[in-house]
Amino acid sequence: MRVLIIGSGGREHAIARAVSKSPRLTALYALPGNPGIESVATLIPGKADDIPLALEVARKESIDLTIVGPEDPLAGGIVDAFQQAGLRVFGPTREAAQLESDKAYAKKLMRIASVPTADARVFTEYAPARAYLASRDEPVVLKAAGLARGKGVLVLDDPAEAIVAAERIMCDRVFGDAGATLLVEEKLIGHEVSVFAIVDGQSIYMLESARDHKRLLDGDAGPNTGGMGAYSTADLLPESILREIETKVVVPIVDAVHSDGAPFRGVLFVGLMMTAAGPKVLEFNVRFGDPEAQVILPRMRSDLLDLIDRATRGKLDSAAVDWDPRAALTVTLASPGYPDQPKTGLEIAGLPMDDNRDDLLFFHAGIKRENGKLLTAGGRVLNVTALGDNLANARETAYAAIEGVRFDGMQYRRDIGIGR
Ligand code: AMP
Ligand code: GLY
Repeated sequence: MRVLIIGSGGREHAIARAVSKSPRLTALYALPGNPGIESVATLIPGKADDIPLALEVARKESIDLTIVGPEDPLAGGIVDAFQQAGLRVFGPTREAAQLESDKAYAKKLMRIASVPTADARVFTEYAPARAYLASRDEPVVLKAAGLARGKGVLVLDDPAEAIVAAERIMCDRVFGDAGATLLVEEKLIGHEVSVFAIVDGQSIYMLESARDHKRLLDGDAGPNTGGMGAYSTADLLPESILREIETKVVVPIVDAVHSDGAPFRGVLFVGLMMTAAGPKVLEFNVRFGDPEAQVILPRMRSDLLDLIDRATRGKLDSAAVDWDPRAALTVTLASPGYPDQPKTGLEIAGLPMDDNRDDLLFFHAGIKRENGKLLTAGGRVLNVTALGDNLANARETAYAAIEGVRFDGMQYRRDIGIGR
């Protein structure tokens, strides 16, 4: 099979590495990929959300299957465009992708399908949002409804701060047009977990779960980011809870999307808070998590390409996935200034380019190669993933490996996988 991967982050590197092991693969391309992906794929320069270019590449290189990593091209309708052109692609249509690209839409479907989630009000104008916030004296969560790279959510314990923040989101548009609609949610308390299902339009296959660390700083302090680290263990969620999530969340929301007109095909990523009243949905995403993919995919022993191929042909009902029982943990190395204003162009030293250890993997994200040097090219630069017999061993291996990698102002959390 000739395969094209769309995207350039650590997630896409993890997908590319997993797909590259498939006996069914005959050629692998990435648009645009990164220097890490280059070790297993041919890179095509361009932008991940350039849909006409993706179509051109798929035709020119006789691609059998295109796998879309990030949300932007999905929200932009890449799957619709490929389907219209008669090309096979893995991901949801633009309409189904609204589950992620429009949090107000996701809330509406959750209400219709009785999916457990935080109570929320939706506002399209500032004055009523302000009046509502002024009437509250509990902590609130503000969410820009559109796509904001994981940064459009503010958890505010003081409602007075929330009024100022709502003005910045809705009037000053600090998250751009994503802030045209604002959700004001109740704050949920508990541990978070990221659950993944592969969906073929009809059948659902639940993958192993992961826990993400979204805040920038140790002890879950600082702003929300795209993700500063994650881990996945075989016992992260008891089987009974995973089944509860499947029956109370995944099945009803997939049905609700279908009834709304668009069968869901792709990865459904459910961000949940495990509250005292049971699991409640924080958000849906319509793709693999980043950095969750960097811990889940290294634990997948069976053929990812085969699984995705089945999903695009409506043949998931006969799928079976074999998992590595080891724990996996990843630490994100981020640029100075991330998440607000990441500084790029800094030289990265000490990054091994060979991938010959099965318990230590370096997934490239915001990295470019220039004149033979590796330079930072984005906010999240690298994911160092380690596997171990238990979480503590995996953590030790990952942090020991980080000691060898350097760039100016490198930021990372020292507490990934601790205290949970
Ligand atoms: P989201 O992009 O909706 O997943 O939100 C990003 C992060 O904000 C989540 O991973 C949580 O840490 C936090 N968050 C979102 N919604 C809530 C909520 N209702 N209660 C508490 N924390 C939340
Ligand atoms: N790690 C969260 C995300 O991929 O959105």
